Amino acid sequence: MANNSYLKLEQIGKSFSRGPATTEVLRDISMIINEGEYVSIIGHSGCGKSTLLNIIAGLTPVTTGGVILEEREVNSPGPERAVVFQNHSLLPWLTVYENVALAVNKVFAGKKSRAERHDWIEHNLQLVHMLHARDKRPAEISGGMKQRVGIARGLAMEPKILLLDEPFGALDALTRAHLQDSIMEIHMKLGNTMVMITHDVDEAIFLSDRVVMMTNGPAATIGEILDVKLQRPRRRLELVNNKAYTEARAAVLEFLYARHKAPTIAA
Ligand SMILES: Nc1ncnc2c1ncn2[C@@H]1O[C@H](COP(=O)(O)OP(=O)(O)OP(=O)(O)O)[C@@H](O)[C@H]1O
Ligand SMILES: [Mg+2]
Repeated sequence: MANNSYLKLEQIGKSFSRGPATTEVLRDISMIINEGEYVSIIGHSGCGKSTLLNIIAGLTPVTTGGVILEEREVNSPGPERAVVFQNHSLLPWLTVYENVALAVNKVFAGKKSRAERHDWIEHNLQLVHMLHARDKRPAEISGGMKQRVGIARGLAMEPKILLLDEPFGALDALTRAHLQDSIMEIHMKLGNTMVMITHDVDEAIFLSDRVVMMTNGPAATIGEILDVKLQRPRRRLELVNNKAYTEARAAVLEFLYARHKAPTIAA
């Protein structure tokens, strides 16, 4: 039975201090994320999305409030929350297989046998269609392929929550679409909880159950949360003329470009 108050963000606030100066980046962020839900966070550059994701990951401490996962406060990194960073962060001297193995051996040492770990690594590479490149090093594969290995590494840790910080941001449109399709397929297959940051309105709606729209900083907070009422599996081409899709898209665009315009970039 899916847990309906799985991950709670409770009145999260974050300020950064440098000498006497303090900047309040996030203020009073509260929401509940259900188990198995796909939630996207969208907002203008610099509003504090990565800061929020890093707080959920336990990489950045909160100033006020907290993150509660299954009734327990989390304030340090843990294998149940894997992060896929925008720039894949693979180790260049290890092969594709070894990069995933590093994470798997860390999480499953003592829990899975050597043979089981091997099968598990290959299984996850297969999920992202990268098994054929298992012996290549990061420099020998494309950007999209590196990103897929990063996703396989995240999934292989069998995290309760996969945190994705603009995972497709650096990719061309076609590769991006392929990877979005694979992530949707994986999410449907595994039913894990996903929290993804993106700048892309279509990507957010295509993949998510809910889209969290953030206001501009300083002291950014949740402006609105949109329910995406589209059945799964979703097919990109069928959505073009889908009324629920176009309405959701208009609502997010209106929020970002009419009511909460990007702050003017100082010259
Ligand atoms: N370690 C830090 N020390 C001081 N200020 C920081 C630190 N990390 C982030 N900030 C500030 O917090 C604000 C939010 O940064 P953050 O990286 O979370 O934004 P973002 O929404 O992810 O932006 P983008 O969409 O460009 O990735 C920025 O003004 C940034 O300068
Ligand atoms: Mg960011």
